[in-house]
Parts: sequence; structure tokens; C-alpha cells
Amino acid sequence: MTDFDELVPRNTPEDIKYEKVEGITDLIPMWVADMDFKCPEEVSDALAEQSKRGIFGYSEADKTYDEAVVNWFRNRYGWDVDPKTCLKLPSVILALSLSIRALTEPGDSILIMEPLYGAISRTVKLTGRRLVVSELELKGSRYEIVFEDMEKKIKENNVKMFVLCNPHNPAGRVWTRDELLRMGDICLRDNVLIVSDEIHADFIYSGHRHIPIASLSEELNKITITCTSPTKTFNLAGIQAANVFVADDSMRRKIDLLSVATGAFGLNVMGIVATRAAYTYGEKWLSELITYLEGNVALVRSRLEGTKLKMTDIEGTYLLWIDASDVTAEDPTAFFLRTAHIRFSEGSFFGRNGEHFFRMNVACPRSVLSEALDRILEVPGVR
Ligand SMILES: Cc1ncc(COP(=O)(O)O)c(C=O)c1O
Repeated sequence: MTDFDELVPRNTPEDIKYEKVEGITDLIPMWVADMDFKCPEEVSDALAEQSKRGIFGYSEADKTYDEAVVNWFRNRYGWDVDPKTCLKLPSVILALSLSIRALTEPGDSILIMEPLYGAISRTVKLTGRRLVVSELELKGSRYEIVFEDMEKKIKENNVKMFVLCNPHNPAGRVWTRDELLRMGDICLRDNVLIVSDEIHADFIYSGHRHIPIASLSEELNKITITCTSPTKTFNLAGIQAANVFVADDSMRRKIDLLSVATGAFGLNVMGIVATRAAYTYGEKWLSELITYLEGNVALVRSRLEGTKLKMTDIEGTYLLWIDASDVTAEDPTAFFLRTAHIRFSEGSFFGRNGEHFFRMNVACPRSVLSEALDRILEVPGVR
């Protein structure tokens, strides 16, 4: 059993999550989406072995890498990926940027659903495309897609590409087969390409199942760029590695050529070693992790129940999306940093209607989470 209760020191100068905040000595960082747990031992052992050799030459993923990747997607999602369709890239956001630039024109409209991880809208805008937003609707505590609005926005704006996030960060939804089929039908009917960001796919809680949209039909496979990565799953974000599946030859060629033209392609040697080890040996560690995270989510839910902080439903990811509008009119992130010395992600990063929310990362030892909850509940106005 992995000891996820272990407090792992991570206050190195290059560690973003733990960067110092002036005037605060007891900060609890619960913002950027990485975890406070060590990666599986097999992964750090493989990296240590590579490191001991002292050779870090130009490298390329080989057959053993492909096998590990193919097996992972087959075993977990029943999805048979063809390694020939896989582009290996340093990051998911790079894959998104390349897909946008290779497959759409400047000024084209691209649809997203907010609230959404802000690097996606930022990338759409910085690549000179028009951002079109269909807001998710909060029904009670659960976010839902407004399909009529999605379709209307696509038609009215002549949308060329839809960036799907599944599971959705920060709405916590794991889109169902029916929802995916409905979104897929709209895209097929209106000639909209899909970039499906599935970086959180391995964090799925009981009663839910991750379905890669490209796995639903050959037609959907042909219009979809599926962005996956082991870096969230195994806490390897600083290593940077993504596997991007593009079944359509012509689309894949365009993205590949642009990645070469950009000079950002392939994986670094540590990314190759870590990904292969994680996908080969990481299953048991991951399943223990999910159980631990599920416990963390349940703890937050029970301790916030009856308070003025409203937590939305969470079916996947380790990122909670919490409405603080009944607690403070101030930006909740600044408010809790000041009053509880906890750093959350700012709701406004996730879209126009996010300013009264904050995102809480619960991928930390339970003792840290309990201390954070104690502090939150002591803040005047929360109860
Ligand atoms: C939905 C989503 N996509 C992409 C990323 C970033 O991925 P990468 O570091 O591979 O660019 C994140 C990180 O938090 C994320 O939440």
C-alpha cells in the first residue's frame, strides 16, 4: 500500500505550487493542479536508473513505449489506439495550440464551455482565433451542457473547432455516453472538429466511467484530436509529456509538420522513461490513489455541509469548484489567502462567471486537508 499520508517536503526554489507568499509563513497551497504525493516508486526508480547512466542524448520513444501506451488505453477504457496515430508532444496545451494553428485559420471561431481551465481560452485567443463560449448550466450542484445553446452558438458563429474537456476542469463532470454522443452529433452535423482534452481521464470516482469521445464511432474518431498525458495521473507535470491521438492522416500530418516547424516535438528522454514505467507499473498505485482522493473529497463535502460554501458535484478530477458568494463579495482567493493562509486557484481564471468561485486542489495528505478545513471553518462568515 502506498502511504499517501506521508508529508513530502517540496519547498525547492523551482517548485511553483510552494512559491512563497510575502508575509505568510504557514501557507497551505491548494491551487495549481499537481499533487503532494510521490509518483509510483517504479517511475522514480526508472528515472533514477536513467539518471545514473549519466547519458541524456537525443531520444525517441520506441516499441516498448508504444506497447505501454496502447495497453493502458485498452485496459482502462477498452479503447484500441493505433500507435501510428499518436503524436508525442511535450504538453497538452502545446497540442491544443498546434491543432488550432494547423487546422483552423486566424479569425475562425472556436467553441468552449465555461467554467473551464483558463489556459484553454487563453490559447484560443493568443492564436488569433475568436473565442465562443457556451456556458455550462449549474442545476442545483451539478453542471450540465446546454445543447441548444451549443448548437446555436456553433451555427451563429460558424464555429470550426470545439475544445471539449473530459473530465471537465473545474466543473468536475465526467461526461456520459449520451452527452458525448449528443455533442458529437452536433459537431458532425456542423463540420466542427473536436479537440478533446482528456488529461484528467484517470481520475474517475465510483459510479462514473471515462469514455474517450473518439472511441464512440469511426466518424467521431475521424474528426477528433484526443489529448492525453500521464503527467496529471502520476504527478509528473514537471516532466512534460503528452500522447495525442489523431486518426485522420491529413490532420495528423498538418499538426506534425507544424510541430516540426515550431521546433517543439517529441518527448525528452525522462518523459519517455517516466511514461513507459507509469503506464506499465502504475495501475495499482493509481487505484489506491483514487480511493484516497475519494476519501478527501468526502471529507470536504461533509465538513462544508451546512456552511455557506457551496461545493459543486464532483465525478472526476481532484479539483473542487466552490461557490463563495454567500461568504464574501471579495475575490474568494484573496479572501482566503488573507483570512486562512490558504492559496486556491482564482475562479476568474476559469471564465466570466467564475469570480465568486474558487478551485480547491485536494490532492494532498489528509492531515493537510483537515488543517485547511479547520482554518476555513474558523473564518468569520463561513458557517
Ligand atoms: C484540462 C487541462 N488541460 C491541460 C492542462 C495542462 O497540461 P500540460 O501541462 O500538458 O500542458 C491542465 C493542467 O492543469 C488541465 O487541467
